[in-house]
Amino acid sequence: MDTAFASREQDRLLAELTEFLSIPSISALPAHAADCRRAAEWLKRHLAALGVPKVHIIEGPGHPVVWAEGPEIPGKPTLLIYGHYDVQPPDPLDEWTTPPFSPTIRDGKLYARGASDDKGQVYCLLKAYEAVLDAKRRPPLNVHFIFEGEEECGGKVIYELLRREPERTQADAVLVCDMSYYAPGWPGVYTALRGLCYAEISVRTLQRDLHSGTYGGVAPNALETLARILAELKTPDGRIQIPGLYEAVQPPTKTELDVWSKLPFDREDFLRREVTGKALTGLQDRTVFERVWALPTFEIHGIKGGFIGEGAKTVIPAQATAKVSLRLVPGQQYEKVARALQRRVAELAPKWAEVSVNLLHGGDPVQVDVSAPAFAVLDQAFKEVVGRKAVPVRAGGSIPIVPELGASGAPVILTGIGLPDDGLHSPNEKLDVSQLLSGIQIFGRFFELFAEKGGGVPMAYSSSSSSGETRLTGPE
Ligand code: BES
Ligand code: MN
Ligand code: MN
Repeated sequence: MDTAFASREQDRLLAELTEFLSIPSISALPAHAADCRRAAEWLKRHLAALGVPKVHIIEGPGHPVVWAEGPEIPGKPTLLIYGHYDVQPPDPLDEWTTPPFSPTIRDGKLYARGASDDKGQVYCLLKAYEAVLDAKRRPPLNVHFIFEGEEECGGKVIYELLRREPERTQADAVLVCDMSYYAPGWPGVYTALRGLCYAEISVRTLQRDLHSGTYGGVAPNALETLARILAELKTPDGRIQIPGLYEAVQPPTKTELDVWSKLPFDREDFLRREVTGKALTGLQDRTVFERVWALPTFEIHGIKGGFIGEGAKTVIPAQATAKVSLRLVPGQQYEKVARALQRRVAELAPKWAEVSVNLLHGGDPVQVDVSAPAFAVLDQAFKEVVGRKAVPVRAGGSIPIVPELGASGAPVILTGIGLPDDGLHSPNEKLDVSQLLSGIQIFGRFFELFAEKGGGVPMAYSSSSSSGETRLTGPE
């Protein structure tokens, strides 16, 4: 590969990425549907300019999928690259130092919504691909690309596409670059992703809002009723009160606990700089790693209802809604958890309230066996470029389409070039320029090594037992 590519072309690369990041492709907001399409079209144009012969925008009931196939390279393995071009809403806007869709470099970091999650990482892979093209713009292996625009909002387009045409996931490996290093200098490879069950709990207690003086003392308050239900769902010390919820949870293996216990981790630093709070909450008898990687969670994301304008209004609200979610871990199943949540909320509903649970979206947790040869190739690329193999860790986050990406049996490599302080979904999201540049080298080397070695890697590079096939499992 052209190893000087990234540093030589740095200015052009940052200009291109700036253009991509300037498109406000916020998938959750209907007003930005046209921007999502512009981001898809930007990718299409960019892939075509790289000499990728087949590039299609695939429509569905939402934001489109971009599918592309590089030139066919007979006898070489096929790599399927997944990423998402949509981003989270940027609010609260006034906390951004520079506007979210006006990418700005400060102190070697590129600030913009999507810089790290995931447009910057998608762009990194496109440039790694560019770096390994020969004079005839042929890559050393077969590369297929699938980019979706609904990862952040729980859309259906990519699901329906892969359900209709599962052969698209046939590949020797799937590369998902939507994660971060464990710590600066410590690349990560992910052995699990949490699943998700996202719901709205709605409460109605009256037909209309009432005067809180005239009726206060007798009229049931929807916000209060909702608050009591929410408070019942988790104890103050962090145990989720949904019957059976913890039964299916598979505890981490001894090997995992061993690896985790050796990771550099400064609890104080984590609390102050990353969490930015005064204390870590949750189950105090479990380690921080267990709490964020290996246990289910229940979080309240927002509550709507009553009066929230300036000043005071004395009112008893008739209606209130909370957005909540549970994260699920290996062993748990979305369908079962969703039903259990609905049952529990129904039990907690007092007789004077109409309470409903509207499931917005969800996905099963994922477990990945990282002993397949493709992971040894990834290790070698990281080792050559950053001097350290990828550490096997778990992700607290979710990427709902991952089970489907592995459905044809290809190993799914979950990794990335982000850093823990990138601020995903937060104000001032960023990507370190140095991570982008080294990322281009890393994945360029990965493409070359994978082209050479594909499935048959020499034992010396095997990260653990060579027995096997990568297993990607949802819950049984
Ligand atoms: N890239 C993240 C997932 C992620 C976050 C992986 C942190 C590893 C560490 C992804 O874009 C994401 O934010 N997923 C959502 C999914 C949800 C909206 C369905 C998530 O985890 O909240
Ligand atoms: Mn992402
Ligand atoms: Mn995200």
